[in-house]
Amino acid sequence: MSAKPSYYITTPIYYVNDIPHIGHAYTTLACDVLARFKRLDGFEVLFLTGTDEHGQKVEKSAAAAGKTPKEFCDIVSQRFRDLAEVMKFSNDDFIRTTEDRHKRACQALWNKLLDNGHIYLDKYAGWYSVRDEAFFGENELVENKENIKVAPTGAPVEWVEEESYFFKLSNFEEKLLSFYENLPATVLPNTRKNEVKSFVEGGLRDLSISRTSFNWGVPVPDNDKHIMYVWIDALTNYITAAGYPDVGSEKFKNFWPADIHMVGKDILRFHAVYWPAFLMGAGLEPSNRIFAHGWWTSDGQKISKSLGNVIDPFGLVDEFGLDQVRYFLMREVSFGKDGDFNRQSMINRINSDLANDLGNLAQRSLSMIYKNCDGAIPCPDALSLDDKTLLDMVDCLLVYVRDCIDKQAINKYLELIWKVVSAANIYFTAQEPWALKVTDPARMATVLYVTAEAIRQISILSQPIMPDSAAKLLNTLNIPINERGFEYLGGVHRITSKNSIEKPQGVFPRFIET
Ligand code: MSP
Repeated sequence: MSAKPSYYITTPIYYVNDIPHIGHAYTTLACDVLARFKRLDGFEVLFLTGTDEHGQKVEKSAAAAGKTPKEFCDIVSQRFRDLAEVMKFSNDDFIRTTEDRHKRACQALWNKLLDNGHIYLDKYAGWYSVRDEAFFGENELVENKENIKVAPTGAPVEWVEEESYFFKLSNFEEKLLSFYENLPATVLPNTRKNEVKSFVEGGLRDLSISRTSFNWGVPVPDNDKHIMYVWIDALTNYITAAGYPDVGSEKFKNFWPADIHMVGKDILRFHAVYWPAFLMGAGLEPSNRIFAHGWWTSDGQKISKSLGNVIDPFGLVDEFGLDQVRYFLMREVSFGKDGDFNRQSMINRINSDLANDLGNLAQRSLSMIYKNCDGAIPCPDALSLDDKTLLDMVDCLLVYVRDCIDKQAINKYLELIWKVVSAANIYFTAQEPWALKVTDPARMATVLYVTAEAIRQISILSQPIMPDSAAKLLNTLNIPINERGFEYLGGVHRITSKNSIEKPQGVFPRFIET
């Protein structure tokens, strides 16, 4: 066992029927921020992402592209790896459901559920939506504008009648309802938890978990006429990457149950109803938390290929810069709620929060140190009340932001840091160190010292969101790499006077529309 506490975080695995868009980048970015935060806070992290490569939807997309499913998956899956590189996602593993380790885990889970009496063979007759890869009861269908019955998501449905294995989901109602009441919260935000609860309270039907009408998937053990339903296959990825079926392995013992599965609100039911039931059925502990975030729209409209308003994350990073995009996506929307992507809001955030607030504070104060203090952090004199007030604010930030991160309130975490950025700006302007240079150089030195210390701590805390820009600021301050963890926050490890600094370079340029 590692001496560090463990933290296992997962993204949904992405369907390879489509190239990555902003929604995919958003989910993984949120996980990346949480993973980076936890590492800096002393945890041993396993951060998993990957691609969901089986099922009818992918089989059909491959056929439409004139490729075999495997060829098609290899190409599209690579785009998700490219996205991870461009967005600097710090995932420790990238799982593909077409890997052997995953097939082994799926079949082992299946056998366990079978042995425990939760699977039986019967016939399925009902509606199926390939786009949603989901079964629907007659009562769940809605009529679209053309008076055709469709899934609640608007996706077309087809009538399916075939032999199928079923999972006895109906046996898990009570267990699931008590799982939702576990503390700390197992499903967040609370509004989503209530939706899930009322769905379960409404009664659960057994779930069809195999299909015979297509081939692209994991075969059912001892009956390969049947292919596992893509969601049982997909959800299993979370235990595959933790080492399942080797439940006695150090890795599995260390990382299972997962601390958090981050998902979009559209796939909450699969994660908060089916997945804990499968795990309980197999005698495994259910995950500690499922968090459902909201959806992005573009200028108020649903993002869709047919509307031609899909936002390409690669293009955004090219145009605005990586840390700018990361900051905007995490700051603009209250995490858990829907948000609207709008170009002007992005530019406003870049110019006000980054260029004006943090960028100017750093550039003005560090340039003064570089020019007026022999290029080194000056020695402070006795601290005034204003100095102490600012330092106290900085020193206690970790306690508050840690609480935000533990609730996945990522935008709040940034709001709190920016409150301190703003206080530091007010302090710097009010103290007028440029005037003190003539009237009281010792006091100027103190003001510059206090500001540099505030920038050091703000930069350390900004690393999860803006790894490159925070590193540039910490490099300018010459903070050693091994002194950038959260144990270096607070008053115990103040910035060292006489530490030479590098010539400050602007870290957050203004965005000027051409
Ligand atoms: N393959 C399944 C997940 C299996 S997990 C065991 C899947 N894949 S997906 O590629 O369709 O979607 C992946 C994630 O992207 C979902 O969490 C979904 O909510 C998210 N988003 C897709 N479009 C989005 C927006 N417009 N905005 C925010 N996130 C959205 O579902």
